[in-house]
Amino acid sequence: MKKILIRNATVSDIGHIMDIEHESFCESVHEDIAVFRDRITTFPDGFLVLEVEGHVCGYISSEIWNYSQNIREDMFYLDHSINKVHDVTGSELYISSIGILKSYRGKGYGKLLFSELSRKITEKYTISSMILIVSAQWIAAKRIYENDGFREIKRIHGFFDDVTHSDAIVMRKYTLDNKTEFSDMSFRR
Ligand SMILES: CC(C)(COP(=O)(O)OP(=O)(O)OC[C@H]1O[C@@H](n2cnc3c(N)ncnc32)[C@H](O)[C@@H]1OP(=O)(O)O)[C@@H](O)C(=O)NCCC(=O)NCCS
Repeated sequence: MKKILIRNATVSDIGHIMDIEHESFCESVHEDIAVFRDRITTFPDGFLVLEVEGHVCGYISSEIWNYSQNIREDMFYLDHSINKVHDVTGSELYISSIGILKSYRGKGYGKLLFSELSRKITEKYTISSMILIVSAQWIAAKRIYENDGFREIKRIHGFFDDVTHSDAIVMRKYTLDNKTEFSDMSFRR
């Protein structure tokens, strides 16, 4: 059996994280090294790496936002600064990115990393909902989110600067274990 470890990322992981980023997204969708560095230093609990046999082969990053029913495109801009939006007293976890090295895909590691982040964050922070964006073409990612209870709440047309200018599908999940009441329950899917 392979030795698997999921741990908080440190700045010294940045080289591996950028390798994963470059394998996972086309050039126009890559995020900058400075963005990743900021994410690790601003919210280390929200940035995990996956090691298989001591080799860093996956990452997941997140930030905590103040919940808003008004979903704006600019909230999801790639390269936005975590410092401007992250608030540990907020109630919504934004999962900003996930990637696994190609040769490690399709073995359940993406699902594992995603569920581990979810578990760790909800244990420590008062999170009532989670939000993310995905392209319809990122089939494995979309499957992880749907299986976990995320539902589409909005589409942002032509959001991604990829070849087909694919739409961003905004997905949200309410964590029903929490006691927080929402004023607009119709938003719950
Ligand atoms: C998305 C990603 C992290 C998933 O990691 P992974 O380790 O390959 O995924 P898993 O093996 O855990 O599989 C997750 C689910 O997707 C399915 N899946 C995996 N690869 C698939 C493929 N090529 N086509 C269709 N479904 C696939 C699995 O069957 C599983 O679904 P199930 O639980 O219903 O059986 C990885 O594919 C990746 O890095 N992709 C490029 C970057 C990306 O798209 N990131 C998402 C940003 S929103």
